[in-house]
Amino acid sequence: MSRLDPARYPHLLAPLALGAHALRNRIAHASITTRLSANRRVSDALIQYYANRARGGAGLIVTEPVSAARFQQAPQKVRVWDAKSEPGLARWAEAVEREDCRLLAQLQDPGRGRHERGRNPEAVGASALPDDLSWTVPHVLSIGDIERMIADFAASSRRLQRCGFSGVELSAAHGHLFHQFLSPWMNVREDRYGGELSGRCRLLAELIAAIRSACGSGFLLGLKLPGDDGIEASVDPSEAARIAGLLAATRDIDYLCFAQGAHAASLDRHIPDLHGPRAPYVALTQALKAAVPGVPVMALGLITDPAEADAILARGAADLIGLGRPLIADPAWGLKSSQGRAADIRYCVSCNSCWAAITEHRALGCDNNPRVGRTDEVDWWPVPAPRRKRIVVVGTGIAGLEAAWIAAARGHDVIAFGAGSELGGKTRLLTALPGGEGLSSIYDYQALAGKKAGLRLELGVRASADEVRGFAPDGVVVACGATMIWPRELPQSWREDGVVPDLRACVAQLLGFTEPQSGTAVLFDMDATEGTYASAQYLRGLFDRVVIVTPRDRIAEDVPLVNRLGIIRRFAQAGIDVMTLGRIGADSCLEDGLLRVRNVYTGTLQEIADVVLLTYATPRAPDLAAIEAFASIAPEFHVIGDAYAPASTMAATAHGHRTGNLI
Ligand SMILES: Cc1cc2nc3c(=O)[nH]c(=O)nc-3n(C[C@H](O)[C@H](O)[C@H](O)COP(=O)(O)O)c2cc1C
Repeated sequence: MSRLDPARYPHLLAPLALGAHALRNRIAHASITTRLSANRRVSDALIQYYANRARGGAGLIVTEPVSAARFQQAPQKVRVWDAKSEPGLARWAEAVEREDCRLLAQLQDPGRGRHERGRNPEAVGASALPDDLSWTVPHVLSIGDIERMIADFAASSRRLQRCGFSGVELSAAHGHLFHQFLSPWMNVREDRYGGELSGRCRLLAELIAAIRSACGSGFLLGLKLPGDDGIEASVDPSEAARIAGLLAATRDIDYLCFAQGAHAASLDRHIPDLHGPRAPYVALTQALKAAVPGVPVMALGLITDPAEADAILARGAADLIGLGRPLIADPAWGLKSSQGRAADIRYCVSCNSCWAAITEHRALGCDNNPRVGRTDEVDWWPVPAPRRKRIVVVGTGIAGLEAAWIAAARGHDVIAFGAGSELGGKTRLLTALPGGEGLSSIYDYQALAGKKAGLRLELGVRASADEVRGFAPDGVVVACGATMIWPRELPQSWREDGVVPDLRACVAQLLGFTEPQSGTAVLFDMDATEGTYASAQYLRGLFDRVVIVTPRDRIAEDVPLVNRLGIIRRFAQAGIDVMTLGRIGADSCLEDGLLRVRNVYTGTLQEIADVVLLTYATPRAPDLAAIEAFASIAPEFHVIGDAYAPASTMAATAHGHRTGNLI
């Protein structure tokens, strides 16, 4: 019997005839840049990442983009245009294809687009027009350049085929080069590759024909297209339907998939988060499917749950389900779904830390999967410890819980104390704020795994050192978090009077309030992370006006660009005001609701009237004395998560994970 049991999700796990191939199910891994290649070649780490997703149940995998034309030199991409990569490509294909999973390499070029800061000096493009996000003006591809690129892409496709790949996906979405040719906003060429629809589609049509001619009809050819790029006078849904219809008429395309957003203010739409609806592209995908009768269509975008995926297929909105981030979070998503173990999935929490990692030139990582790409990643369960120990964990935030469940699953006798009445620490508060709901999947998984492993939880108990000592533990893990530092610029008297609470305390108190509050709430922002802006949005739902004051020149600097743009969009829509380069200090005076804000460079004062709430978000610091009290209770002592050094959610899960495996 197949390891995948179609009775669970009959539509999701049903086979699909795709071109000359039969997919074992409808689960497709969407292209994800991993930064796991080495020196432009296939690495063991790269192969492992993809083999894990194939072993975990995907029926089709689209790789990250590879360098298929000679001008493509990006260091993170595997070079396919020369023969040197062939042994690596063959190992890559074999590792995935032997799991009954079809492997397709993604071919694209970013063109003038750039996610990093600054301009891209190597950019090529359709026209000498600035990118809408980075303002890069590309080198314009001549007709000769285009012809050479098409020839290279076709030759590289043939090489991939010889090495065992089942096909390629051309990405003409996300604002990349082919998208730039399709868009009347980005392409103002006057030669045969511009102008009317057929001119703008010509490059792709010729590329498709060249690949078909080089690789034959058995080679899978998928196409990722813009469904709505969110740029005025560019590719809206009706233009997308015309483009898809024209290209599908070539009869050379085996499946189509539609993305949204582009390299522009709409970038946040290309990786949708929980500030909008779930599965936000599905309705549009279904509408566009009507423009391409007979061509299988992949639904994509914030589809995280197998039941949701099955329902999309059941109602005929799509033929395949593309999963990007959900398969980063859990490569065994398909396997667990098929075994009736959907609750065991470590779900994608839509935080986009993965995107931040790769755009900041780090290897792919995940807040809810500390083992991305490891050899034992698929359906991982802890390895038993050589000797059972008694362990006390102080703190049931995500760092503490991760350590606790793993230690328990390794056979230790573990008890975890949480000061709050519920699990999750500060993450729990974030889940109550706009866009944060998905984060609960982190501690929900940990709690369930802990329950299976026999973890004992004592909630609502702030355990003292004496209580912990009473257990005569072999090991103590302190994961009691950290609190926001009082901004020392503010008058000390405000601290003593307790009139200015930290943002976390403030939001915790206000949760559940539904009465509108008249007046202005001011948030002094020295934090720049996501939770602060979700809190501001929450406050805006209650107060007449919300003003963020920051000493920096911009807000949300420590948030992935893709999320930052969403924050800027929502702030504009909600009318949240931002005062940059502002300091609140001893001369700010908070009398009769009047707050003075000093410019950090000029000292000029600006006034905010009718202030009824002043709160602050600052970097956090652990309570060292409280931690020290637990230091010499047991032979083993670990301080983890924010209690060790306040950092990101990804760092907290990873630290807890390492500690649970070490103890
Ligand atoms: C970390 C990360 C890297 C990505 N890299 C690529 C890429 O190289 N090529 C591409 O076409 N799409 C890329 N995408 C977009 C995904 O393929 C997909 O369209 C998007 O994540 C929405 O699907 P999801 O909600 O299932 O994640 C990337 C997305 C993420 C989160």
